[in-house]
Amino acid sequence: MASQQALTELAKRRGFFFGSNEAYGGTAGFYTFGPQGAALKRNVESAWREEFTLRLGNEEIEAPTVMPEPVFEASGHLDGFDDMLIECAECGATHRADHLIEDAVEEIEDAEALGIERVEERIREHDIACPACGASLAGDPVEEFNLMFETSIGPGSGQPGYLRPETAQGIFVEFPRLKEYARGQLPFGITQIGPAYRNEISPRRGIVRVREFTQAELEQFIDPDEDEPPLAEVADVEVTLYPAAEQQADDGGYIETTIGEAVENEVITSPWVAYFLGVAKEWYERVGVDLDRFRFRQHLSGERAHYAADCWDAESEVNGSWIEIAGFAYRGDYDLRKHDEYSEDRFTVFKRYDEEKTVERATVDPDMSALGPEFGDAAGDIAAALESLAETDPDAFEDDELTLDVDGESYTVDCEVANFAIEEETEAGEHITPHVVEPSFGIGRTVYTLLEHAYSEDTVDEESRTYLSLASEIAPTDVAVFPLVSNSELVELADSVAADLREAGFAVSYDDSGSIGRRYRRQDEIGTPFCVTVDHTGIESEETTVTVRERDAAAQIRVPVDELVSELQAVIDGDVTFADLQTAYDAVETDVTTE
Ligand code: GAP
Repeated sequence: MASQQALTELAKRRGFFFGSNEAYGGTAGFYTFGPQGAALKRNVESAWREEFTLRLGNEEIEAPTVMPEPVFEASGHLDGFDDMLIECAECGATHRADHLIEDAVEEIEDAEALGIERVEERIREHDIACPACGASLAGDPVEEFNLMFETSIGPGSGQPGYLRPETAQGIFVEFPRLKEYARGQLPFGITQIGPAYRNEISPRRGIVRVREFTQAELEQFIDPDEDEPPLAEVADVEVTLYPAAEQQADDGGYIETTIGEAVENEVITSPWVAYFLGVAKEWYERVGVDLDRFRFRQHLSGERAHYAADCWDAESEVNGSWIEIAGFAYRGDYDLRKHDEYSEDRFTVFKRYDEEKTVERATVDPDMSALGPEFGDAAGDIAAALESLAETDPDAFEDDELTLDVDGESYTVDCEVANFAIEEETEAGEHITPHVVEPSFGIGRTVYTLLEHAYSEDTVDEESRTYLSLASEIAPTDVAVFPLVSNSELVELADSVAADLREAGFAVSYDDSGSIGRRYRRQDEIGTPFCVTVDHTGIESEETTVTVRERDAAAQIRVPVDELVSELQAVIDGDVTFADLQTAYDAVETDVTTE
């Protein structure tokens, strides 16, 4: 485990990430990914795309990040996307009230679920002080603070708009068109990888809580009555679950189970959510999350977002505490129903029946020439009330007359005037609002977790070193090439080795500065799996070989230069291990670092 400070320093030193706009004093909550970080983040995004878009057979879109206000009126973000803000009356510093409690009171893990009044009570009870000036916050009110960044679209007063707080809305608003690309057939999934913005009250822990971050989201549209996930594919995947009931029980703990059992025992009630937890668990393993420091935690009821019926978070333990790295929400029909209600488009799909159905429909055709003279101005409303009554209570028309309540007035109507009839109609299907299941990943938090879980320290040749044991698939650099000395023959060969590796698709770093030992340390700290030192050009009777060093074991072997590309490719693809190569090739006993 790395301390936050050690990781942040390494991230800055080696170009993973650092605070943005430092030349202008910095801007809290904004980070720049440096060359290594940008490459690592790109690799994580590619691995996500490979799994959640391509392997699962989904489609990816790219929507704008600025969206007009009505979208967020409909989605509920304008009203409900708030955090708890407390402002220190003494120094004016603002803080997230729920976080202050979590920091001060060990047994409270999720203060947001308490609600404003109880949060104020706890602040008084524990006499929590302002972290900035030390003054008591006991008398200061806690308020809701909307997290969206507001902007104006177009010149002048323009049209109010917001930077999207989740990529999901860019998918939901385009549903009427997207369903056409899916030929109107459920289930189908749409993914998006891109920035989301939240004006966090107190950004913290480096890239863990920031104001601009990248999300990778999948919106899976399903027919809740028909569509089932391919659960068998992940039924045997083992998971560590922390359900809401266990979090609330005095002696509650984790449930170690499989996805199949968790569904069978109703620990996870939605098979779709369970399916995505299984897929995600395997993906996290593939990219290098330490599974001993990983769990799925169910949201407590007060913690769920306004749109979620159930939600499980993937959480990783970093720097000694748990952070949410992804959320798996059952959003039901909330989003599509809201956009259907607020917009002028239809957010439903037409579900064709297997066979056409003949249905009986009760109809009325009120005789206005009779209703008008009898009821005057109320005649129109009475006709409308007769139409609704025919749908809800057709038996009411069996008597000679019926009584209607319209706007608090009671009217007796002769049933003959209503012209009631039962008609037969043929229906080919019905319009349904799909439900949405959403795996939503934070890419920055995944990157942070991977760095922290890969962070290792040991001693090689009596020298201590820090290295990142990143999975080959996501390491920013695949291979580093070093000419041992700046002799022209060696440099020429090293150049051609680097060119061959690049040609084969490897991310290659070429380093000819400082001792080989220093070059190894630099590559270890950015997690480069292999270093190739070009240390001789061979003599006529011998084939030319290079020294290949594997990062984690710091073991070196001598490999013929002509076989280098194919052997490294085989190790990176997982076809052979470095240990297999150690058996096949001579070990290098002398550490080239000492040469
Ligand atoms: N569309 C659902 C949604 O946005 P969320 O739980 O609010 O759900 C999903 O966000 C993921 O986005 C989180 O699990 C987290 O990894 C990441 N995330 C959320 N807020 C973040 C922030 N301020 N900084 C960095 N990552 C964040």
